[in-house]
This record gives sequence, C-alpha cells and structure tokens, in this order.
Amino acid sequence: MQITCLKENHIKEIILLSDKIFGLNFLTTKCLYQYINSHVHFGFVCTIDKNIIGYILADNINYNLLKSSFLKDNEWFETALIGLNNICLIKQIAVAEESRKQGVANLLIQKIGGLAETHCCLAWKRGQSTPLKNVLLRNNFKFQKTIQEYWKNDSQMRKYNCSTCGKPPCLCRAEVYFKKKASTIS
Ligand SMILES: CC(C)(COP(=O)(O)OP(=O)(O)OC[C@H]1O[C@@H](n2cnc3c(N)ncnc32)[C@H](O)[C@@H]1OP(=O)(O)O)[C@@H](O)C(=O)NCCC(=O)NCCS
Repeated sequence: MQITCLKENHIKEIILLSDKIFGLNFLTTKCLYQYINSHVHFGFVCTIDKNIIGYILADNINYNLLKSSFLKDNEWFETALIGLNNICLIKQIAVAEESRKQGVANLLIQKIGGLAETHCCLAWKRGQSTPLKNVLLRNNFKFQKTIQEYWKNDSQMRKYNCSTCGKPPCLCRAEVYFKKKASTIS
C-alpha cells in the first residue's frame, strides 16, 4: 500500500471511484485538475499495485475564503472559525468498498494532518450512519453540528446524482467536525 500525490494519470480512476461511491458527476475532471501541482489544493491517492483504492482531497483556505467554501450556513462557519487563518478543509475522502476497514482512510487523514493548524471536515451522513465518524474522532476531530440537506441546492445546480438519494435533489445531511491545535482553541 502506497500513498502518493495525486497526478494527472490518476484522474480517470478517481472519477470512476467517486461516481460509484458518491454518485454520478459529483466529482468532475475539471475540479480534479485543480489538485495537480497546487499549493492550495491537495490530493493524495492510496494505491496497491498501481490501482487506486482510496483518495483524499483537501483545500487550504484562509478566513477570507470561508464565505465561498461552504454550501450552507456560511455565517455559522465564519463565527466558529473566527480568528483562524490557516484552515484545511477536507473536501472528499473515499475508499473502495473492497479495501475498507484496513486503515486506509485513517492513513489518508493522517497524511493531511500537517497541512494546517485547523482542520475541518463535512462528513456525509447516510441515513443514520456517518461512515467517516470514528476515523475522525480517532484523529482528534470534534463533532460540531449536523447540517440538514447540505448538498440540496448544489446537487440541483450542478446536476449530480447521490448514491443514496438518486437524482437531485440530494437530501443527505452533513456532520461538521473540527480539529484545532491547542493554541487556537478559544
Ligand atoms: C468512510 C470511509 C472513507 C472509511 O474508509 P476506511 O478505509 O474503511 O476507514 P478505516 O479503515 O481507516 O476505518 C474504518 C474502520 O475499520 C477499522 N479498521 C481499520 N483497520 C482495521 C484492520 N486492520 N482490521 C479490522 N478493522 C480495521 C477501524 O477501526 C474503523 O472501525 P470503526 O469505524 O468501527 O471505528 C469509507 O467507508 C468510504 O469511502 N465510505 C463512503 C464514502 C464516505 O462516506 N466518505 C466520507 C465522506 S466525508
């Protein structure tokens, strides 16, 4: 098992994985290109024998970018993250079904651990379960709140399917988690 930076030749495979796990067209090729050789967008893939079994996408954002970084409740995020200028937002993390429960997500989260002082993740809640929850808690993320229908407008606007809801609108909830360095906790 190997974790490396996301490269152009990974894009096709990542899109296939995302279409299957999250829903058709949720992740686009255009979006993924932003993660290649960037100082702001970070992408890592986990491979076995050159096959991608998982990936993580994360953005480094500063306080001024908060307004445009979330799909809902922007004012709440601005208040909750006030004074913090070095924030890593986990945009997506996924592991192929047949490779789960082997610690891959844990490794991917640890890979981005040093990117910023504060980490934020909107974890997808499918029905009553939040698949990423325990991995986040184990990595010292703290639950903040649940946002109802977080992707509703975005799924209608960008016309992507959700693997739980089907055609738009996606009505899934998101759980917000933060990990703040001790010196930044207010
Ligand atoms: C959520 C997700 C990324 C987790 O990936 P994963 O690689 O299975 O995660 P990990 O292996 O690190 O941890 C998952 C579980 O396996 C367990 N595990 C890890 N290594 C293990 C091993 N060697 N043997 C047995 N169990 C193990 C962990 O303890 C953890 O258990 P818990 O959740 O009951 O506490 C994956 O399920 C997924 O892609 N889900 C769909 C997409 C999704 O929800 N993504 C998050 C969107 S924000």
